[in-house]
Amino acid sequence: MTYGEQLKADIARIEPALERYLSRETGEGYDRIFEAAKYSALAGGKRLRPVITLAFCRLCGGDEQKALPFACALEMIHTYSLIHDDLPCMDNDDLRRGRPTCHKAFDEATAVLAGDGLLTAAFETAAAAEGLPAETVLQCIRILGRAAGMNGMIAGQVLDMGAEHRQLTLEELQLLQSLKTGCLLWAACELGCAAAGCTDETLLEQAHLYGESLGLAFQIQDDLLDIEGDSAVLGKTTGKDARDEKSTFPSLLGQEACRLLADELTEQAVQAVAGVEGSGFLQWLARSLMGRTR
Ligand code: IPE
Ligand code: IPE
Ligand code: MG
Ligand code: MG
Ligand code: MG
Repeated sequence: MTYGEQLKADIARIEPALERYLSRETGEGYDRIFEAAKYSALAGGKRLRPVITLAFCRLCGGDEQKALPFACALEMIHTYSLIHDDLPCMDNDDLRRGRPTCHKAFDEATAVLAGDGLLTAAFETAAAAEGLPAETVLQCIRILGRAAGMNGMIAGQVLDMGAEHRQLTLEELQLLQSLKTGCLLWAACELGCAAAGCTDETLLEQAHLYGESLGLAFQIQDDLLDIEGDSAVLGKTTGKDARDEKSTFPSLLGQEACRLLADELTEQAVQAVAGVEGSGFLQWLARSLMGRTR
């Protein structure tokens, strides 16, 4: 199997599982919340985070099937973060994953609740993981909570809200980006290792570093795409960061320097796992994101 085929196979495993986890029985009169959650979650994101979880589980010799609930839980949390990120009180966006944002397709209150619902469903899904020691499940829940919480992604979003109409320093930006985007990326790596029962401290550190470096490279690329990307391909509006005078790596360093920095960080991610047997897919995946258009 080529790496490209592996990626397709992983996504083909993730998407039906995600749909299954979100297709719970619903009661009279509130189907709309499931509809809204699924509208955003099943809209065809890149599925980068859950793919990374499965890949690290494989790398550690685990059974990918067992990592699937955690991979999907993370994708639910990511989707919730996007729904809330798009709200008028945050980035006020109309387009996401090639469709009207959740609050545009439904309404604001439904979008807030769909985000809340996805966040909650993530923990329910993770807690219901089968065939693993309870301690492993608990460890994965802890990883999800730490990465998504107020010292994690949410902290990054708080700093991001304060990054409008002013220029942050490089250090401030680095902290903001590593929290906002890096946290869910290292969580993806750690979840895969944990689901495989990995206790090798060195490998765990390498996994964390891969996620952290890739997260920063990924967000720099996202900021570049906001300037240079094609909205139709990207599936979201462009030019929003400039519109909001948002402090980003390109606004501080310029686009060319950002490309070099993103390359450097990608290489750092690749090197983090390069010594590990079977890491070819993860190396390829990191490099493949560099030229991304969506
Ligand atoms: C978008 O994430 C938000 C960022 C953290 C940059 P993705 O680019 O992974 O979005 P989807 O999941 O493919 O829609
Ligand atoms: C969003 O960053 C990060 C999270 C949702 C945590 P952005 O605001 O740059 O993401 P896009 O560009 O709207 O996808
Ligand atoms: Mg934002
Ligand atoms: Mg945004
Ligand atoms: Mg962006």
